[in-house]
Amino acid sequence: MESINASIDIDKRLWREDIAGSRAHAAMLAEAKIITRQDATAITKGLDQIAEEIERGEFQFSRALEDIHMNIEARLKALIGEAAGRLHTARSRNDQVATDFRLWCRRACDEAEAALRALMAALAAKAETHADAVMPGFTHLQTAQPVTIGHHFLAYVEMFSRDAGRFADARARMNECPLGAAALAGTPFPIDRSLTAEALGFDRPCANSLDAVSSRDFALELLSAASITAVHLSRLAEEIVLWTSPQFGFAALSDAFSTGSSIMPQKRNPDAAELVRAKTGRINGSLNSLLNVMKALPLAYAKDLQEDKAATFEAVDALALALAAMTGMVGDIAVNREAMKEAAARGFSTATDLADWLVRALAMPFRDAHHVTGRIVAIAEQKNARLDELPLEALQAVEPRITQDVFSVLSVDASVASRKAYGGTAPDNVKREARRWVSALAREK
Ligand code: ARG
Repeated sequence: MESINASIDIDKRLWREDIAGSRAHAAMLAEAKIITRQDATAITKGLDQIAEEIERGEFQFSRALEDIHMNIEARLKALIGEAAGRLHTARSRNDQVATDFRLWCRRACDEAEAALRALMAALAAKAETHADAVMPGFTHLQTAQPVTIGHHFLAYVEMFSRDAGRFADARARMNECPLGAAALAGTPFPIDRSLTAEALGFDRPCANSLDAVSSRDFALELLSAASITAVHLSRLAEEIVLWTSPQFGFAALSDAFSTGSSIMPQKRNPDAAELVRAKTGRINGSLNSLLNVMKALPLAYAKDLQEDKAATFEAVDALALALAAMTGMVGDIAVNREAMKEAAARGFSTATDLADWLVRALAMPFRDAHHVTGRIVAIAEQKNARLDELPLEALQAVEPRITQDVFSVLSVDASVASRKAYGGTAPDNVKREARRWVSALAREK
């Protein structure tokens, strides 16, 4: 029974929140004259000492005492005697744990948001440095059109900024206090729930006692935000794995963020990127785990709810590590501008620019321009030449009205520079957007 029932090995992490909740509750009980001032003072002093003991690693956690709430209460009893027994007036472990866990998840939201902003700042700084560095843009992982790597980095800044917004939204919704809901039905004692809510930084008390003790959608929202963030991280991690491979050769990580092989001396493995990619599995798994714990659970409290913490702690820890590692890698990564540019020019990446020129200069319908361009690409392929290396006569053999002016759009630099419409990859746009992000993120600090 003890083995399946005890949660102390996991929920001891809630000790700070548990003590904060008890302090607020004791102060409120005294204010409402439910316990005496003397008892409240003794309780607070005892809790202070317990906090110190835990901080110093001297506290004896006991599995026989089941969970963090009973462990702290038992120690309080040993320290201050009878007054300790009055702390649990108008309270149950059900509203207590719900309060502790909300406090913990609220801080997790704040920390994830801060870590995301640090990552965004690293990406925006890289984007500004490489606002004009051309790389192949891909669709289907096939060379599509040239883009700049600054634009590519800023795509992730947009994603991570929405992720930060999701943590902020989740935080705002979870910021209601369950304390005082007691076991499930509320309490006959004349408690002041607004007082405890305010003392703990909540916006207001939860309005329904049954909901207060039995809901965990606040943790589900945290895990959803974590999962979406992890998915975004995994895409960037995967790209770092690809870019740093000798086959791509677009970028390199220093020794600080890569590892050697124990057998192959030439290897520089992007282990951190691979682990960030893999953490996604554990984070998404945690969301799935808690969704299934909650499914079909009748109101109000059931011990199933104790299984909410392991999954949440694991996901939040994994996300924090993944965000820190990714921030480090983004700062560390060295971009090989020449190799990227060379790759960008391969694969007839400016074929669309040629078709667009035919539309603009010759007033050709786009479908016809597409067809003419296809024939020119076939010739280039045959001659093993890039589009901008073909002689004008070769182009004119397909479409006699083509003039020398066409070469002004066929280079990769011209291609990216032309994409000036809002949201496009033109270096001027990228520089402006990168600067906007750099200064916005510095302001929010
Ligand atoms: N350790 C429990 C949990 O995490 C605390 C609440 C226990 N409540 C109860 N009625 N047994 O859910």
